[in-house]
Amino acid sequence: MQTITTVSELRNAIRVWRLAGESIAFVPTMGNLHEGHLKLVEVARGKAARVVVSIFVNPAQFGVGEDFETYPRSEREDQDKLHAVGTDLLFLPAVSEVYAIDAKTVVTVTGLSDLYCGASRPGHFKGVATVVCKLFNMVQPDIALFGLKDFQQLTIIQIMVRDLNIPVEIIGVETVREASGLAMSSRNSYLTAEQRAIAPKLYKALCAARAAILAGHRSYAEIEHNAGLFLQESGFQTDYFCVCRSRDLKKAETGDGNLVLLAAAKLGKTRLIDNIRFSIPNK
Ligand code: PAJ
Repeated sequence: MQTITTVSELRNAIRVWRLAGESIAFVPTMGNLHEGHLKLVEVARGKAARVVVSIFVNPAQFGVGEDFETYPRSEREDQDKLHAVGTDLLFLPAVSEVYAIDAKTVVTVTGLSDLYCGASRPGHFKGVATVVCKLFNMVQPDIALFGLKDFQQLTIIQIMVRDLNIPVEIIGVETVREASGLAMSSRNSYLTAEQRAIAPKLYKALCAARAAILAGHRSYAEIEHNAGLFLQESGFQTDYFCVCRSRDLKKAETGDGNLVLLAAAKLGKTRLIDNIRFSIPNK
């Protein structure tokens, strides 16, 4: 595995593969890698001749008072893990390599970027869309892989690629969970032992809401309310819990068959997000 820190070296390495006619898959990350990230690399491995992974803790997607400074960084361990799963190239740029000091251009996917996670993290998705667009321009992959765990992020990237005609195929990969059901996340390392015991209840709330819908309940406002109560009683501060259409993340109506339940809730200072996508049969 090559580890590269500059865009010009990255382009040289990629040019060699392109000349040999090899396809390229790209997995962007912010590091502190867990099995969820490694699953993306594994899926990428099966779909392209070469796999590029980036680790870049992107300052533009963190708000004031968020955890940019303290975001867990574990580059040595990350490199070993990426090597072990067959990554060809790790791109590990400094902030100054990614952003010009007087950068003036940003990418905003309007509308959806202000809802759900975007409502409580203003500017977050502008930072995500901008850095992902820039990374796509640097790597120029054929395909790029994103986790379904961050369903809103995945949807925003899909819209951006469509709207800007970026020639990359976006592939969503199922959420990897701990045995308890808790979705793996770099931020799980912030949880105390007591919070860790509570955290799986977020997925439990999603599963209960899905079961209610599949059993025929169609009062989505009531399902959202009950889930919020359950989370609050369990010790969470609920940010949102919404029954949405999976296609465009608009609030679901009773006629909609393809749904995603989106949830975000805080345990102490740690914000956890999760979701489940499913279809109502015969809709
Ligand atoms: P990060 O949180 O490091 O996640 C990198 C990728 O791993 C994302 O596509 C995310 O959805 C996926 N992922 C995280 N946890 C997962 C899990 N439990 N199962 C499956 N996939 C999982 O998301 C970001 O970084 C950044 O916003 C980024 C896209 C890199 C832009 O900076």
